[in-house]
Amino acid sequence: MLSRQTAPSLRKFETPFYFYDINLLRQTLESITSVAKRYGFVIHYAVKANFDPRILSIIREYGLGADCASGNEVRCAIEAGFDPSGIMYAGVGKRDAELRYAIEQGIFAINCESLQEIQVVDSIAGALGKVQDIGLRVNPDIDPKTNKCIDTGQADSKFGISYEELVANLDVIKSLKNVRVAGIHLHIGSQIRELHVFEYLCVKVNSIVEHLGKLGLDFGFVDVGGGLGINYDVPENEPVPNFASVFSIIQSHLKVGGRPVHFEFGRAIVAQCGELITSVLFNKTTASGRRLVIVDASMTELIRPALYGAYHNIENITSTSEERKRYTIVGTACESTDVFDEGVTLPLTQRGDLLTIKSAGAYGMSMASRYNLHDLPSAVYSDEL
Ligand code: LLP
Repeated sequence: MLSRQTAPSLRKFETPFYFYDINLLRQTLESITSVAKRYGFVIHYAVKANFDPRILSIIREYGLGADCASGNEVRCAIEAGFDPSGIMYAGVGKRDAELRYAIEQGIFAINCESLQEIQVVDSIAGALGKVQDIGLRVNPDIDPKTNKCIDTGQADSKFGISYEELVANLDVIKSLKNVRVAGIHLHIGSQIRELHVFEYLCVKVNSIVEHLGKLGLDFGFVDVGGGLGINYDVPENEPVPNFASVFSIIQSHLKVGGRPVHFEFGRAIVAQCGELITSVLFNKTTASGRRLVIVDASMTELIRPALYGAYHNIENITSTSEERKRYTIVGTACESTDVFDEGVTLPLTQRGDLLTIKSAGAYGMSMASRYNLHDLPSAVYSDEL
């Protein structure tokens, strides 16, 4: 993570930009791969969290598979060197051209989220003369105890197939000639910090696996998704997420009869290694006395605060003042929700100071937009300073 000592070497880059700590990324990858190996778990990286080519190529070096959410993500993963045989493709809506591309590439599995999707995959695979492995994404109806905007596994969510619908259509699915049910898939949400939620997930998975077995469905892998949360409040306290805890919970509670267990982590792998570096443009005070710091980044570089009310820790890395003040940090976009944080205490913060918005490596750059015709932010890597 960035320290004040590094700040002067950042002055030569035009702000705003993403700074990536490559050592921290490597430490995180070493941790996740070594703990996963202990249990024989298979890890896929959720490309949607960050598809920076340098980041992707480092992740690939550690032997992870990829979890993709679109045809373009599948293409991006393949171009970054991920082996198609380790690529999952999930998503509630997939266009025919995306499915055709994924099937042609021979990816590990397409995780399907509706009966109709399974039938479409069957017909496209048939037309290509192939049999495609699929995962059945089951909606487990679990509250992941996270921000409602990123909760995906409750009964009324748009994601996954309800268990009842799946069972009612099992014979239809089994009769299809060009798809093979290779596994089941569940993903209940993101930024999960209450790890006991993963115990509930295991209980649900165990009963689904047992029940589907009794109904005569023969399948291999069990993919329990991603979702492990990170410490946004004080990132320095937990630069590498606690993979050992979540893996040991899964190991002790999941009873799937020796089937391979897959995970798809995004945030936990890349969030802490990325920071958004921005310069202070102006200071002003509103009529009600709110002290504003206007920075040159905005929701177009990092939309999480504006979209989800998400918190990111912000630090002034260049001010040497002893004086402390409370500020509201706002971006340049023409949107009132474009506020990075309200009431943050910082040393005296003035035009030209550099601020870091921490824990921005996941769902930062990948969700950037060109609203107001802003340029997309560039990337600076710690080993290039
Ligand atoms: N697998 C599936 C099927 C997913 O939908 C997701 C994330 C993941 C894996 C990876 O989840 P993770 O390990 O990163 O929690 N933009 C939001 C997060 C959206 C997550 C979407 N799906 C944010 O900024 O918080």
